[in-house]
Amino acid sequence: MKFFIDTANLDEIREAYDLGVLDGVTTNPSLMAKEGISGDANVRAHYKAICDIVDDKVSAEVISTDFEGMIREGKELAKIDDKIVVKIPMIRDGVKAIKYFHSEGIRTNCTLVFSAGQAILAAKAGASYLSPFIGRLDDISYDGLELIEQIVHIYQTYGFATEVLAASVRHTMHLIKCAELGADVVTCPLKVITGLLKHPLTDSGLATFLADHAKAAGK
Ligand code: E4P
Repeated sequence: MKFFIDTANLDEIREAYDLGVLDGVTTNPSLMAKEGISGDANVRAHYKAICDIVDDKVSAEVISTDFEGMIREGKELAKIDDKIVVKIPMIRDGVKAIKYFHSEGIRTNCTLVFSAGQAILAAKAGASYLSPFIGRLDDISYDGLELIEQIVHIYQTYGFATEVLAASVRHTMHLIKCAELGADVVTCPLKVITGLLKHPLTDSGLATFLADHAKAAGK
């Protein structure tokens, strides 16, 4: 299972990378705006800065919603660095754009996915990654994890090459359940990744080990 960090914050990306478990980064226009990044040149420079931190796979989202615009923008984004994955929304022209980029050998991440039907369309078009938003489904009383289970089952049944990238992950149990269900990738905030470290028995056990060691050494 791969871990992507879901942020455009360079310090958080560095911290996750330094932990040694980071496989990639996902961003979206809201995350870029949160970091105060705007304007084509600044956006491109910021994506380049992210690519310079990590080893591979940086999702950069198009803003256009028409086919020609998505192709133009996606090609520009892909030129920034070999690590870029062009993120395309699950809309009619988006499916066409995914098909086009697949034929050109440019990787895509199909985003804003909320149903199994959308997942099938994206896989048939040749998306490299599929991003079902589990937290946002939970927010409206649908079971986001149930969708992950359904998509993993469908993709395995038909041998689709598209990787299931569980997105909108809000807490550690989301991540652990996605692992159980066979999601290929999880993208989440830094606090979810570091949250996996925590267990009170680890903390109390370590404190005892260190105290016993100090006692035996006469300290
Ligand atoms: C990632 O690709 C998505 O843009 C992101 O996970 C959305 O998460 P949110 O629902 O917490 O905004």
